[in-house]
Amino acid sequence: MKKTLTRTALATVLAFSAGSAFAAVKVGFMLPYSGTYAKLGEAIENGFKLYVQEQGGKLAGQEIEYYKVDDESNPSKGPENANRLIKRDGVDILVGTVHSGVAMALAKAANDSDTTLIIPNAGADAITGPLCSKNVFRSSFSNWQPGYAMGVVAADEGFKTAVTISWNYAAGKESTDGFKESFEKGGGKVVKHLTLPFPNVEFQPLLTEIASIKPDAVYTFFAGGGAVKFVQDYAAAGLKDSIPLLGAGFLTDGTLEAQGESAQGLQTTLHYADGLDTPRDNQFREDYIKNFPQLPPDVYAVQGYDAAQMLDAGLKAVNGDVSKKDEMRTAIRSAKIDSPRGEFTLSKAGNPVQDMYLRKVEGDKNQFVKIAVEKLADPARGCKL
Ligand code: PHB
Repeated sequence: MKKTLTRTALATVLAFSAGSAFAAVKVGFMLPYSGTYAKLGEAIENGFKLYVQEQGGKLAGQEIEYYKVDDESNPSKGPENANRLIKRDGVDILVGTVHSGVAMALAKAANDSDTTLIIPNAGADAITGPLCSKNVFRSSFSNWQPGYAMGVVAADEGFKTAVTISWNYAAGKESTDGFKESFEKGGGKVVKHLTLPFPNVEFQPLLTEIASIKPDAVYTFFAGGGAVKFVQDYAAAGLKDSIPLLGAGFLTDGTLEAQGESAQGLQTTLHYADGLDTPRDNQFREDYIKNFPQLPPDVYAVQGYDAAQMLDAGLKAVNGDVSKKDEMRTAIRSAKIDSPRGEFTLSKAGNPVQDMYLRKVEGDKNQFVKIAVEKLADPARGCKL
């Protein structure tokens, strides 16, 4: 018997045979939704969803279905949490996370299961260094990048000695190592590296030590809730006016409302700033504030937004067919991302090659001062791709 297909039924059949145009792409967010980095996770998710919404709720014609796990910034729960998304939910794309130690576990789980991973924050140098992998990308930075940029600025400003202070885990160690590398190349000397365990905030004994060492400057990596407390304690200890506090920009990003007076005038380096005043950034900020009026459009929101842009570039190259993993990944790696921060490309290791800005806190803004280092590429030491 001859069967006639209606126009819609025919379209459906064609669409399915052309690569499951109606099957949603499953995106799994593994992010901190509790603890010191909770606000960072929220901003990343907001940014990601904003971009998808701007595309009419679809990427490359595909619906996006979201799955979520709160990783609590706890590395020991990393493998289990990653596998909730990979094995239980069967996600096509992983987006995570904030904490470098958790990201190491997530990257391993992504490699073991050949899942595409876009990291919207965690800067662990190793992930785009010795452990680099064709399925792993970052929309953010390597920990080395902002640290290196601040070391260049500090040496240029004529500081001769510095103390570094951070949490004692990959991000703190690598950020302060990046600072030391360029600061000492420029003639400075890091005289002491102080640490405390993540996410502790008992800074007092360390501040007393800084006061007794009297370096020309202090360079720090802290972020989220811990950064709020550190900046407040540094000012309360009476150090702010005598020993300039420098930082990777996370020190004052998304935190200024809570830090208030204690943060005024602080200089930091980061791949985003307030007052870039480009049409692209102005549009992003307007849309973000409209959708999330209670939160500032900070670096984390931008990284989430750009993670979605990277996925979009990959999906477009395969007409939304996530099963074409190699093609999709090649397209992501060669994409030019029109980011609110300014356009960036990815290194062979999958890390953004991007301008690093010097910013200065004025009121509730990390005001753009100048480009500290142009198109800074992480050295990707040990990456064999
Ligand atoms: C990290 O653990 O890599 C990390 C966490 C928070 C930041 C930046 C880096 O703001």
